[in-house]
Amino acid sequence: MLAVRDALTELVSDPNGLEQAIGPVEAGGITTLHNAADLTVLRVAWTPGMALNPHDHRMWAVIGMYGGQEDNAFYRRVPGSIEATGGKELPAGDVLVLGDDVIHSVANTRGEFAVALHVYGGDFFAAGRSEWDFDTYKERPRDIANTRRLFEEANERWFNRS
Ligand SMILES: [Fe+2]
Repeated sequence: MLAVRDALTELVSDPNGLEQAIGPVEAGGITTLHNAADLTVLRVAWTPGMALNPHDHRMWAVIGMYGGQEDNAFYRRVPGSIEATGGKELPAGDVLVLGDDVIHSVANTRGEFAVALHVYGGDFFAAGRSEWDFDTYKERPRDIANTRRLFEEANERWFNRS
């Protein structure tokens, strides 16, 4: 985890190099760069105005921002629900390490894409994780299709704005 943090710190210091290697962001979404049982590497681009509801990962994660800014809110479990515990703004160039019990939500409140490399210490797409509704804080199984739908809706709003 700390080795990944160091590698990401170096990588995000050269956003142009990353863009050349991975390609430019044309829309919000998740691009899988590596996916194995023990490690997943994603390029995640949050569309302006987008917010992803609280969720856990159940594996460590390191986020390296290289464009825009993502706003993280953190939560902890309370009986039958979760409660907000704080937040952290993550501007380009910052690297955030998340332990395997972290619950967070992510928002892009700015007028540009928020772009990051996300590295996870396991298979990000495997089952067995939770998410919570933004309004009710009710726990439910993580629904990756719902996450992809949120990206599509946010892209539609962003590209069709007047
Ligand atoms: Fe996350």
